[in-house]
Order: sequence, then C-alpha cells, then structure tokens
Amino acid sequence: MDFSLNGKVALVTGGARGLGLAFCTALAEAGAQVVMADVLEAEGRAATDALTAQGHAVTFQGLDVSSESDWADAVDAIKARYGQLDVLLNNAGVGGAGTFLSTTLEDWNRTIAINLTGVFLGCRTCVPLMAESGGGSVINISSIFGQVSDWLVCAYSASKGGVRSLTKSVALMCGEMQNNVRVNSVHPGFVHTPMVEQGVAETPKEIGDPYMARTVGQVPLGRIGNPDDLAGAIVFLASDASRYMTGSEVTVDGGFTAR
Ligand SMILES: NC(=O)c1ccc[n+]([C@@H]2O[C@H](COP(=O)([O-])OP(=O)(O)OC[C@H]3O[C@@H](n4cnc5c(N)ncnc54)[C@H](O)[C@@H]3O)[C@@H](O)[C@H]2O)c1
Repeated sequence: MDFSLNGKVALVTGGARGLGLAFCTALAEAGAQVVMADVLEAEGRAATDALTAQGHAVTFQGLDVSSESDWADAVDAIKARYGQLDVLLNNAGVGGAGTFLSTTLEDWNRTIAINLTGVFLGCRTCVPLMAESGGGSVINISSIFGQVSDWLVCAYSASKGGVRSLTKSVALMCGEMQNNVRVNSVHPGFVHTPMVEQGVAETPKEIGDPYMARTVGQVPLGRIGNPDDLAGAIVFLASDASRYMTGSEVTVDGGFTAR
C-alpha cells in the first residue's frame, strides 16, 4: 500500500492558515513538494518559511481563487518551476452566517465566487497540466453543509453543495478523457479554525451560543474536530493508495451526518 507522496507536486489553495496549513504540513511530511497558495501573503510567507526551516519543500504563491488570471499565473509558475502537477487541493473558502432572508446579494455572490467558482477555475486551469504529468488527484474541500444543511448557512451551504456535484461532473469528464486524473470531495464537520472562530464572533451571542451548543451536542464523537483530524484523509486521497476512487465523497465529521 503506497501512501507516500515522494516525487509528487501538490498545490494547496487557502494554505496560509486553518485546515489548509495543516494540509500543507501533512502533504509535505508525506514527501510532496508543496505550493501553498493564498490571498494572505504575509501569513503565507511566514508559514512557508517555518515549514522550510523544518526541512520541508514548500513555496508560496499569491492566488485569489476567484480570479481567472491569478490561476493562469499560478499554473505557469508551477510549470516553470516543477514541470508537473500531481495534486490539486481546492481548500480555499469563506464562511459566513446568514439565512435565505438575511443574506445580501453581495454576500451571496462573494461566497459563490470564492467557494464554488474558485473550485471550477482551479479544476479547469490545473487538470490539463495534471493530465500532462501522467495523471493525479484533485481534492475539493466541500463540507457537511454540502450534504446536509442548516438554516443559518444559506449561501455557504449552496456553495458547498455545488462543490459536491461539480466534483462528480469533473470526475466523470476526466473518466471520459481517460486522463488518469481522479477527483473527489472531502466533507469536514465542524473544525477549530479561524473561520469558525470568526463565524462565532460575528454572530449575535443570543443566536450563536445556542447554535454552537446544539451543534457540538450533535457530534457523536463528542467534540469539534481539529485540523489534524482531517490530514489522514487528505494524504490518502492525494496518494496512490486511493487509486480506484473518483467522484467519491469522503466525510470526516465525527459522525455528525450519521443521524
Ligand atoms: N472549519 C470548519 O469547520 C470547516 C468545515 C467544513 C468545511 N470547511 C472548509 O475548509 C476550507 C478551509 O477552511 P478553514 O476553516 O481552514 O478556514 P480559514 O478561514 O481558517 O482558512 C481559509 C483560508 O482560505 C483563504 N482564502 C479565502 N479566500 C480566498 C481566496 N479568494 N483566494 C485564495 N485563498 C483564499 C484564507 O485567506 C485562509 O487562509 C474551506 O473551504 C471551508 O469552507 C471548514
């Protein structure tokens, strides 16, 4: 069974903090050369410096996933530097609380542009290079809110449901092309990251506190996840150990969606 990522080049969007940073670390520990991409330039460069000091092969690339030209620049840079791309981890995303009545059109459009259009652009721009490299693995970070939903996450849930079905369409097209690129989605439950902390801070206490208490109470494993809890699934999907998986949903949620 080969879980090693030696010789593979991986691009991780939204890698500067939270889940993305844990994923960059895990992929590098498994042997990959990692390109960490983010809009947070200072945090990203500090994180890549820290990982490099630990002996890992990690570089930083400025990238706004909702920008078509940024994607073109990123792929050109990867092609010039490494000549190949084996793993695309579409992780960048934004949260945000709002019901279908309180969500503004501006918030809706921003959420869809980053969380859904960003994944579409990533697949469209990177899969050709992955195919040229002999194949590879695309991992799209959706959410449990791409499988089930809740009243306070209208735009977020719509964007993540889109990522879930986009993943299957891209997987099927790669199958049509027989390009040896596999495409799967990962559905994390609640995980301690800056996104969740920010969501809690921005939601009025009288709504946020009971919402979070109810949510934690619904996790069969009895706790909110940590970013490292997701790392094993990511390394597995990036590696050849998952070679017969495509179009699949991998849920890592402490059992939240089992009810
Ligand atoms: N934390 C959770 O509970 C949870 C649960 C399910 C799914 N997710 C998903 O996991 C992914 C990572 O979330 P997180 O919790 O680590 O959030 P986070 O806010 O801590 O990190 C998100 C990262 O994405 C980057 N980013 C945001 N917009 C970007 C853009 N336009 N272009 C490039 N980078 C951008 C941010 O700068 C940040 O570094 C997201 O897609 C999120 O929806 C998180």
